[in-house]
Amino acid sequence: MNRLSDFMLPPARSTLAAETDALFNFINVVSLIFLLGITIAIIYFAIKYRRKSPDDVTPLITHNNTLEITWSVIPLILVMIVFGWGYNGFLNLYTPPDDAYEIRVVAQTWTWQFHYQNGYTGNELHVPVDRPVKLVMSSNDVIHSFYVPDFRIKKDVLPNRYTSVWFEATETGDAQIFCTEYCGTAHSNMLASVIVHEQEEFQTWLATAGSADDDMEPAELGQALIQRNGCTACHSTDGSQLQGPTFQGIFGRETTLQDGSTVTVDENYIRESILEPQAKIVEGFPPVMTSFAGALDDRQIDAIIEYFKTLE
Ligand code: CUA
Repeated sequence: MNRLSDFMLPPARSTLAAETDALFNFINVVSLIFLLGITIAIIYFAIKYRRKSPDDVTPLITHNNTLEITWSVIPLILVMIVFGWGYNGFLNLYTPPDDAYEIRVVAQTWTWQFHYQNGYTGNELHVPVDRPVKLVMSSNDVIHSFYVPDFRIKKDVLPNRYTSVWFEATETGDAQIFCTEYCGTAHSNMLASVIVHEQEEFQTWLATAGSADDDMEPAELGQALIQRNGCTACHSTDGSQLQGPTFQGIFGRETTLQDGSTVTVDENYIRESILEPQAKIVEGFPPVMTSFAGALDDRQIDAIIEYFKTLE
């Protein structure tokens, strides 16, 4: 606890945090000074000018130029300081340095996907420490908002448009990502982690993350893909009920659809449900899943099917 803001702010772990916190503290301290000053003045005047006898009459005072100019100009100066300071911070936040490392972020109800320059896709954001990182973000469906309190960054993620935000992490370790725009039932589960690596460690991680998939057994890869693509935000693997049907025992199951017809969950049904989720909705579940076409290729879908076969 070495700073005033540690009382009410999360740890400051990016280069942008100091300025944001300084402004936040400035506003708080100025507000506190005014709160105390006005409260003390009210109490003092209430006592000093209280009605002491029935003939006490308030004199007619029309105005006081000095007083009125003072109480207009001082707040004006204060809010202009806050504006200038805030605008400067806003420009810093939305102007990434030219040498920033770029990562694509795709939001989809209710998951985050991170696409790295070597083609690897995962649902955790891995970044190097002490290096500016620029996120180029878009949404596959509704408006989401990318928020990392520890880095003091937040930016809306929109369908049909790219937005970007950047940060430079100042220490290694994990930080929490939140979605902070209400985007439906599982909005509050739309979480992910940032993992900040040492620079060399990040390069190693990136190199192995991309190639590790080739060495995995199909079912093992399927399990990793289910986690990585955020499927488990809505589908459990242990039979418990979330927004979507559980994956436990899914393969070969007879399922009733919304229109009353039944279908056997086989390779074709799983494939169709991943690529075209609205085609056959299971009875009792909302039609909220969006397509993973483009996010998962045929080999990955095969791996997921193999994994489902193991979930007895
Ligand atoms: Cu995505 Cu809230």
